[in-house]
Amino acid sequence: MKCTATCSFGLESVLSAELKKMDFEDITSENGRVNFKSDLTGITKANINLRTAERVYIELANFNAVTFDELFENTEKIQFHKLLDKSGAIIVNASSVSSMLKSIPDCQSIVKKAIIKSMSNYYKIDRFPETGPKYPINVFIYKDNVRIYLDTSGSSLYKRGYRKKGGDAPLKETLASAIVQISYWSKDKILIDPFCGSGTILIEAALIAKNIAPGLYRDFVAESWPIFNNNEWIKSREFYSSVISNVNIQKMYGSDIDKEVVSLARQNARTAKVSDIIEFSVKDFKNITAPSEKGVIICNPPYGERLEDEQVAKKIYSDMNKKFDEFPKWSKYILAPDKIFEEAYVKKADKKRKLYNGKILCNLYQYFGTK
Ligand SMILES: C[S@@+](CC[C@H](N)C(=O)[O-])C[C@H]1O[C@@H](n2cnc3c(N)ncnc32)[C@H](O)[C@@H]1O
Repeated sequence: MKCTATCSFGLESVLSAELKKMDFEDITSENGRVNFKSDLTGITKANINLRTAERVYIELANFNAVTFDELFENTEKIQFHKLLDKSGAIIVNASSVSSMLKSIPDCQSIVKKAIIKSMSNYYKIDRFPETGPKYPINVFIYKDNVRIYLDTSGSSLYKRGYRKKGGDAPLKETLASAIVQISYWSKDKILIDPFCGSGTILIEAALIAKNIAPGLYRDFVAESWPIFNNNEWIKSREFYSSVISNVNIQKMYGSDIDKEVVSLARQNARTAKVSDIIEFSVKDFKNITAPSEKGVIICNPPYGERLEDEQVAKKIYSDMNKKFDEFPKWSKYILAPDKIFEEAYVKKADKKRKLYNGKILCNLYQYFGTK
């Protein structure tokens, strides 16, 4: 099957590398998505084990349409009965950019009618109860090209299940994991996050260190689909449970000035089953000390998004520069908003990478330590 995993803009190469490592084939990337080939077992593995993907889809069709008739006719041709159960509840979501077909409600209702017609052509019945498993169908229309996808994930994959509440500005789990993967941190190096908030960066790093698949303890919409009739989900979960490892992992340290957020971080780490390797404390970053000569710092300090906060953020960035001088051999990876960071931190980064934190354009400022 042709499949697609979506991700935040800028993370396509990280997601491609993950898919490659999992031995998927025919991997190609586009803006915000990576395409690959998979069988049903592969779909369970992609959902359970991908760290930077937002959702995993099966591509059902790809065609051009500029009229509602073309949209209906091309959708009706899809053999929905091969994937959808006849009692299934079909939910259609559409989006359209720079296309003739602009009305989202009309696109959704036409696609839904065409699906029912296609099912009806096969089953020779007109009414479907829609009381069974959920089938989210996504219609992406871009420059008159229509792609119809079946969403196998359901709720987005960044929802690992360990974080019930974040702090004020929590990082998405998928972005935190991507930053960790971009960095040259590996589990045998000490890791510090001095602005840890609800602990997302360290928890994602700890999941990688212990080889815990991020989706191991959550469920997916496709789990209730009858096409998965050979216990594929159970087998994949058993496989990922069997590869968890606690060997050669260095300790991680998280601190934050906010006492409540640190207690949230501790709770989240316990839920994620990684609390044994992360030590959290309440601390102003100005008071952190280096636990070893070398190591890695990954953090996202406050942003100063509102005008009145910008001066506070700039002061923090300039103090960070002084503080991090006490860690000369350490590598530092700092996710901060474009423009104001480098001006205040002063030191020019060895490498910068553009990333979006939600809608905020940021850079991952990378300062490499000694080898
Ligand atoms: C953008 S948030 C980090 C969010 C975190 N990555 C997460 O996923 O929850 C910035 C954090 O910096 C903390 N902070 C602000 N000033 C600080 C200081 N002087 N020392 C340590 N932490 C500070 C805030 O309490 C906040 O939790």
